[in-house]
Amino acid sequence: MSSFQMSPHPSPFSSLSPSTSASPAPASAPLSRSAVVATLRAAGCVFAEDEAELLLSTAHTADELAAMVERRAFGLPLEHVVGWAEFHGRRITVDPGVFVPRRRTEFLVDQAVGLGRRTAERTGRPTVVVDLCCGSGAVGAVLAAALHRVELYAADIEPAAVRCARRNITDAGGRVYEGDLFDALPAGLRGRIDVLVANVPYVPSEEVGLLPPEAREFEPLVALDGGADGLDVLRRVTGAARQWLAPGGHLLVETSERQAPQAVEAFTRNGLLPRVAESDELHATVVTGTREPERGAPYLPDTATTCLPTTPPRSKA
Ligand SMILES: C[S@@+](CC[C@H](N)C(=O)[O-])C[C@H]1O[C@@H](n2cnc3c(N)ncnc32)[C@H](O)[C@@H]1O
Repeated sequence: MSSFQMSPHPSPFSSLSPSTSASPAPASAPLSRSAVVATLRAAGCVFAEDEAELLLSTAHTADELAAMVERRAFGLPLEHVVGWAEFHGRRITVDPGVFVPRRRTEFLVDQAVGLGRRTAERTGRPTVVVDLCCGSGAVGAVLAAALHRVELYAADIEPAAVRCARRNITDAGGRVYEGDLFDALPAGLRGRIDVLVANVPYVPSEEVGLLPPEAREFEPLVALDGGADGLDVLRRVTGAARQWLAPGGHLLVETSERQAPQAVEAFTRNGLLPRVAESDELHATVVTGTREPERGAPYLPDTATTCLPTTPPRSKA
């Protein structure tokens, strides 16, 4: 079997491939599988074998493979090298310079899907979903697929993220806006949002330096740094969310377990009924805040067993 197999998929890096340049370089000899593994291992990749398989099956040409191996060995996140991340069973395009969706955020999606389905049952109309701080748009893309009938909006302050999110959610009819939090959204959404997901940056400033180099060096600081205690952006979102939510609508954010009590306080202070859900499996914490419904409507849908009552907030050692 050849050590180099051509990928059946269009190359995410075709514009970087020498084969597409005006004066193509002569084709290089293909790197063998063992050479790819050895290079990745020497660069410190823990899953060198698996990553080698992925690069071999993604690259279309020997030159493209060599470029991918070089970029990965240089430290770029694997997702930036191949151009996509798997998230909640879907392939999400992730451009260089855009936050790579994390596995733990699938828990935020699960919580949002549950609430979105309940909303759809209650209202009988398409659910209005907003993915604020959307990054690649991974969360919105999965929600649109899971909820079927949605009006989907997304926004981010980073132009690269906005471009990337457009590639991921436009097919689902989603619209992506650029700007600072709610300022980016059409004014007509005020008071209409059923499910507002906001995976805001929440790493305390002093801890950004402790993140793995892949994050520190290749993801934008604005995607990671949440200020002194990590909750600056979260507080801004909770401060404005109530006026954007529909009656009975929900805001969902991801936090660390340690931050959840302060997040709950911020939700309560801003007129949203909070609850905390945790996944031990994904090491994920999601805080949800619900705007009170119209008189006579049910207050909060049944929740998954993972949801924990949080009034008063759980304090964790
Ligand atoms: C932790 S990342 C989450 C991205 C995506 N939602 C996900 O889960 O993969 C946070 C995102 O928030 C964006 N962001 C940070 N501050 C923002 C602001 N003031 N307004 C809008 N977006 C912001 C960043 O550009 C980044 O894409």
